[in-house]
Amino acid sequence: MKAAIFYGPNQKLRIEEVSEPVPSDNEVVVKVVACGLCHTDLHYIDHGVPTFKKPPLILGHEPAGIVYKVGRGVRNLKEGDRVLIPAVFSCGSCRACRTGRENICDTMVMLGNNIDGGYAENVVVPAKDLAIVPEDIPLSEIAVVADAVSTPFHAVVNRAKVKAGDVISVFGCGGVGINIVQIASIVGAKVIAVDIVDSKLEKAKKLGASITLNANNYDNVAKEIRKLTDGGVDIAFEAIGNPKTLQNAFDTLRRGGTLCVVGYCSQKLEWSFTKVMYYEMQIIGSLGCRPVDYPKIINLVKENKLNIKELISAKFPLDKINEAFDFLRSGEGLRTIIMMSG
Ligand code: APR
Repeated sequence: MKAAIFYGPNQKLRIEEVSEPVPSDNEVVVKVVACGLCHTDLHYIDHGVPTFKKPPLILGHEPAGIVYKVGRGVRNLKEGDRVLIPAVFSCGSCRACRTGRENICDTMVMLGNNIDGGYAENVVVPAKDLAIVPEDIPLSEIAVVADAVSTPFHAVVNRAKVKAGDVISVFGCGGVGINIVQIASIVGAKVIAVDIVDSKLEKAKKLGASITLNANNYDNVAKEIRKLTDGGVDIAFEAIGNPKTLQNAFDTLRRGGTLCVVGYCSQKLEWSFTKVMYYEMQIIGSLGCRPVDYPKIINLVKENKLNIKELISAKFPLDKINEAFDFLRSGEGLRTIIMMSG
């Protein structure tokens, strides 16, 4: 089969013929129809962040496709099922998994990082966490759901527990932040979206934001938001991963408010905890999504409550994957997809 192989940082991926995967007892082989591109891949390709499996490795953790080989022990799937494949697989037996928090599993395995991923004609994956997709939803849309929609869903619904009438701020309206905007709006929150790129803010408006602010137009965007909200928002989301915007997001909160950290920030922060204690503030993290939530998200797509089409900026064939990554690097689009067929 054809696959795009990652040989190490600062090299183009190479399209090569490799042997077809064979499923073990509890695995399936899925014929990939579409696979979303993610900035995480650029960490490996451009910035030397090591992958858990040493290259050569097939990257790609947002695939969707059709089951075509089924391992002997698999009961939940059959050949021909259209499936969403999660980016991360949980062990099912650690304490986190047994308490329904599979997204923070002790020994999670990431597709296209610990094991070969979806920039290939076929991918072999554990069967237990795959979700079946109805016929009327294009698999290209599901490739977007697997990470860029599921992570915001978990952050908004399970972690921050946004309710109708809440006022929230969202810092960063990229692939992840735009869906925090979209899902919080569906829930019934009033959303104030912040970015530094006007086109991202226009999209945020289209997907439900009540107010959009370009942070570059303000000396202190947090102060502006406190002014607009009579003292601050109930919940602030940070979906960038930057010490400054983390602080800004926190500064938009009212007393008793909650900061939900979704962006990945590797830098250390200087943080005063005076307000955290004195005003009973909460700071919570949010990572990925639980397998039990995928069918709920698919249902939101089926019922046209979630707008996925609006998120897809470009589609490329596998042969053009390096051009697709160049497009991602340009920062132009929201979500870019590799289409294997159809
Ligand atoms: N203020 C406001 N917005 C900013 C700023 C800033 N100082 N700097 C960048 N942004 C905006 C960008 O313009 C972009 O729209 O943040 C957005 C980031 O989006 P993407 O680059 O598309 O990244 P995304 O895939 O959404 O991931 C965001 O979430 O899950 C994590 O690891 C992921 O840390 C990453 C974050």
